[in-house]
Amino acid sequence: MRLPAIIVNFKVYEQATGDMAVELAKLHEKVAKETGASIGIAVTAIDLQRVSEAVSIPVFAQHIDPVSYGSGTGQILPEQVKDVGAYGTLLNHAECQVGDIALKQSIEMARELDLFTVVCANTPEKGAEIMKFNPDLIAVEPPELIGGDVSVSKADPSIIEKAVSLIGKNRVLVGAGIKTGEDVRIALALGASGVLLASGVTKAADPYAVLMDLVSGLK
Ligand code: G3P
Repeated sequence: MRLPAIIVNFKVYEQATGDMAVELAKLHEKVAKETGASIGIAVTAIDLQRVSEAVSIPVFAQHIDPVSYGSGTGQILPEQVKDVGAYGTLLNHAECQVGDIALKQSIEMARELDLFTVVCANTPEKGAEIMKFNPDLIAVEPPELIGGDVSVSKADPSIIEKAVSLIGKNRVLVGAGIKTGEDVRIALALGASGVLLASGVTKAADPYAVLMDLVSGLK
């Protein structure tokens, strides 16, 4: 994925599922086209095919399971994620954490399928530890700030600096509470290569305006 990047996780917000996921995805594509910004979105497994067919920006699964064709009721099959047109997958989100063994297997399976991996970590230290599995990007998100009003950029910028110094340049996204272009600007100034966010866009009265503001922080 081209860096710096903004990835918006639709989670399972009502405003960002079903028909509204497709509409919101198109809005992200519109902003990406108008501004040239690198914007990706992560949608539910159920919306993955529809959204992937509707837009040309990178669409991520929110999770995959390390399973192959066969038994595995209820699991999210990486091959199918690839088949329906996903660009990549989030893994180990704070709301969908997996153990190290499953994480390693999931990253390896994604790599074999050429699915781009963004692995979430609660702390810079955990992110640095996960680097041994060689994901494409690590998104460091302090769980206590997720869904809140204060961004990681403003609440504790030292987390961003630490993440970049432990994980390395061009490998770090940061997230939690990101809502404005200023949040993005601070994150990039401290060495991050982009942001991962959700509620700032999904719950916004005017997602287009929020996206345009976020993109202004990439410059
Ligand atoms: O995946 C992004 C996320 O966990 C951050 O959520 O709502 O704080 O932007 P939010």
